[in-house]
Amino acid sequence: MIANPPSSPAAPTAASAAKRSPLAAKAKLNIGLVGAGRMGIAYARYLANRVPGSTLYAVSDVRLAAAEAARDECGAAKAYADFNDLLNDKAVDAVVVMTPTKLHKEVVLAAAGAGKPIFCENRFRSDSTTPWL
Ligand SMILES: NC(=O)c1ccc[n+]([C@@H]2O[C@H](COP(=O)([O-])OP(=O)(O)OC[C@H]3O[C@@H](n4cnc5c(N)ncnc54)[C@H](O)[C@@H]3O)[C@@H](O)[C@H]2O)c1
Repeated sequence: MIANPPSSPAAPTAASAAKRSPLAAKAKLNIGLVGAGRMGIAYARYLANRVPGSTLYAVSDVRLAAAEAARDECGAAKAYADFNDLLNDKAVDAVVVMTPTKLHKEVVLAAAGAGKPIFCENRFRSDSTTPWL
C-alpha cells in the first residue's frame, strides 16, 4: 500500500520572500563594486552581463577615472571615488569588495556597518591574531 505523500509546504511567493528579507523579493539586486582594478573590472562585466539576479549599479575606486570607465562600459548608474559614498547610497543592495587585500578589512567592516551584504575574496588564516592577511 502506498501512503499518501505528506502535504508539501506552500511554494514560496514573492510576498513570503519579502517577509523573510526585502532583498529576496527583488528581481535584481543593485550591486556596488569597490575597486575597479584588474579583478574588479572582470567582476563588473560579470555582474552587468552574466548574473541574472544582479545589476551593476555603482562602482567606487580611488582612481575615479577607473570607476567612471567601469560605470560607462558596464552601464552602471554611479561612480564614486570614496567607497563610503557608495556605502551610503541607499540604492546599493549589496557590495562586492575588490580592493587590494590589505584594504579588505576597512571596506568590509564599513560595508557591514552600513548593513550591506558583502562578497569579498579574502584569504583567511587559522592564526586568529592575523586573520585579515
Ligand atoms: N579570483 C582570483 O583569481 C583573484 C586573483 C587576484 C585577486 N583577486 C581578488 O581581487 C582583489 C583585487 O586584486 P586586483 O588584482 O584586482 O588588484 P588591483 O590592484 O588591480 O585593483 C585594486 C583596485 O582597488 C582600487 N582601490 C585601492 N584603494 C581603494 C579604496 N580605498 N576604495 C576603492 N578602491 C580602491 C585601486 O585603485 C585598484 O583599481 C584581491 O584582493 C582579491 O580579493 C582574485
